[in-house]
Amino acid sequence: MTAPLTKLAAPDLTKDLDLTLPELHSLLTLAADLKAAPHHYASALEGKSIALLFEKPSLRTRMTFEVAIQQLGGFAVTNNGMIGAREPLKDVARNLERWFSGIVARTYTQKTIEDLAKWSKIPIINALSDLYHPCQALADMQTVKEHFGDWRGLKFSFVGDGNNVSHSLMLCCARLGMHFALAHPKGYEAAPDIIAEAQALAAASGASITITNSPEDAAKDANIIYTDVWASMGDEDEAAERRTAFSDYQVDEDLFALADPDAIFLHCLPAKRGEEVTDGVMESPRSAVFDQAENRLHAQKALLLMLL
Ligand code: CP
Ligand code: NVA
Repeated sequence: MTAPLTKLAAPDLTKDLDLTLPELHSLLTLAADLKAAPHHYASALEGKSIALLFEKPSLRTRMTFEVAIQQLGGFAVTNNGMIGAREPLKDVARNLERWFSGIVARTYTQKTIEDLAKWSKIPIINALSDLYHPCQALADMQTVKEHFGDWRGLKFSFVGDGNNVSHSLMLCCARLGMHFALAHPKGYEAAPDIIAEAQALAAASGASITITNSPEDAAKDANIIYTDVWASMGDEDEAAERRTAFSDYQVDEDLFALADPDAIFLHCLPAKRGEEVTDGVMESPRSAVFDQAENRLHAQKALLLMLL
């Protein structure tokens, strides 16, 4: 191996702030090395089996964890379904810890992630909950570094919902010294406690957090414009009212034109073209959405190696 492999102090990655700032830097350095020289790590997870639990659909997260674990010499077993429906979660957790080295879980609630961490002795990785999407944010930080060489001083603007993805991005940007702006319609705010955490981290890193209802203010001179679906998994019954509420929040060519001329467009995917983003912006030469998707593989490999 060519990058130093430090183990995380926390037993789990239930949320972004389970990583210390030095660990975040180490993880992103390791992720870059895993991308450049994957063959150096071909047996790094040899003998380890990891359970992948999905309460909600997934393309990227499931595929990249399965491929990552296989490429590192480990073995993944996937189970789809509600955790705790057929038998109590505390029993599920204490079964899995007898067979597996770790659990990756995508859940409806953050509490399910935290209960898995409480009831099992093996590491839990949050693969998206209602509050956070830390694996996505790690890959996105890797993508920004690849495009700009550094994070400090960049303006990272998220146009859309105060949701799991914007929460994780806000926290990571604040720690890495990026000025973070969130533009959302009234009624779709980010969680106040997460905003407060991000503001404290930004004060320490020299960054800033701007919360606005103006997509134009967020987009102006941005280096990165990011959006996500208007109705997340679990919010589908609100899709019609959200389409109305978010109608002025589409990332279209006019909004993207307000950004820095070298700005990139990011989206965690899946994207709904014609809603939160136009086909033109998605397909533009400055769209880096598939770089993000690729980096899920490398960033999650780094996370697995540092946690297991
Ligand atoms: N971005 C992301 O997590 O994609 P999936 O929902 O397909 O896993
Ligand atoms: N906010 C979206 C992200 C999907 C990767 C959701 O939770 O559905």
